[in-house]
Amino acid sequence: MKDRVRIDRDIAGEVFYFAIADGEEAKSLGSMSQLWNSLGASGFTRSDLIVGIGGGAVTDAAGFSAAAWLRGIDWVAVPTTVAGMVDASIGGKTGINSLYGKNLIGAFHSPNAVLIDMSWLHTLSDRDFAAGMAEVIKCGFIADKRVLDLLKGESLSSLRADQDRVIALIEAAVEIKARVVSTDFKESYAREVLNYGHTLGHAIEIHSGYTLRHGEAISIGLVFAAELAEINGSLSSEIVELHRVLLTSLGLPITYPRAKWSELLPLLALDKKSRGAMIRFVAISAVGETLRIEAPTQAQLQLAYERISS
Ligand SMILES: NC(=O)c1ccc[n+]([C@@H]2O[C@H](COP(=O)([O-])OP(=O)(O)OC[C@H]3O[C@@H](n4cnc5c(N)ncnc54)[C@H](O)[C@@H]3O)[C@@H](O)[C@H]2O)c1
Repeated sequence: MKDRVRIDRDIAGEVFYFAIADGEEAKSLGSMSQLWNSLGASGFTRSDLIVGIGGGAVTDAAGFSAAAWLRGIDWVAVPTTVAGMVDASIGGKTGINSLYGKNLIGAFHSPNAVLIDMSWLHTLSDRDFAAGMAEVIKCGFIADKRVLDLLKGESLSSLRADQDRVIALIEAAVEIKARVVSTDFKESYAREVLNYGHTLGHAIEIHSGYTLRHGEAISIGLVFAAELAEINGSLSSEIVELHRVLLTSLGLPITYPRAKWSELLPLLALDKKSRGAMIRFVAISAVGETLRIEAPTQAQLQLAYERISS
């Protein structure tokens, strides 16, 4: 956070503006400590409200600051990226990063409201727009064929030019995430389906030193999970190919030649779906039909990786 500016005062009270660092830097202990100090200096009480305006990093940090301040005050999310709108601001997970990994410090603390205004997206880079769309495509594969139909034949530029289609996609993804989360707020089982593509995706994100956007790593992870299901005999090669077609049409990466399998394997073990030494994957058997692949063999994993690493 660089500054603290009081921008308004009226009968209802005062509005303060806190600028925080960009991207993942917002989700650091240093940034959080400055934010809490500013809340204290500004006299924030339990009747006050925090409004997080920004991408997923900002809404995660704003939500966590609200979760911990006075053991929980109200907050509202105003997401300004696709990833923020369809994912980060929905479902009540808030948090910051630790030296030992992403999102390791946090709390479940739902926002009182999420305000989505599509006009924020006009200034979003193509890269961030496409990365957010990877999560929308994920939602289509796990829950709703209509999402995939809306994307068929679209390039990134044709999609961005079609505001109604973008609204329909974002609405559908929000609805899917909200529906899943409402059945399993604290992620004991059902909510895991939202992790489709994330097991290898997270490992690749870490391996890349966060040079890939989260959504770009998930794009590769989605193709890997689909290939694994095909190898496992659960999914047709046509649906695997549909992953490739939809993701590449938006310019998203679907291969990761930069790592040896032996380098990624230890990172997979850190996945939160792992149980002891057993690695688990969310997979699909058809569009909208999810399953878990428990303890795939090394040969299956390596074969799936070969298919996405060249
Ligand atoms: N809480 C959850 O359930 C959850 C779910 C998914 C992702 N996340 C978190 O969300 C973060 C990723 O979100 P993100 O992809 O929005 O990244 P981000 O917040 O880092 O934003 C990406 C970039 O876009 C810029 N930006 C934001 N809004 C813009 C706009 N309207 N116009 C132009 N530029 C804009 C930002 O300054 C930043 O440089 C990660 O920290 C991830 O862990 C949380």
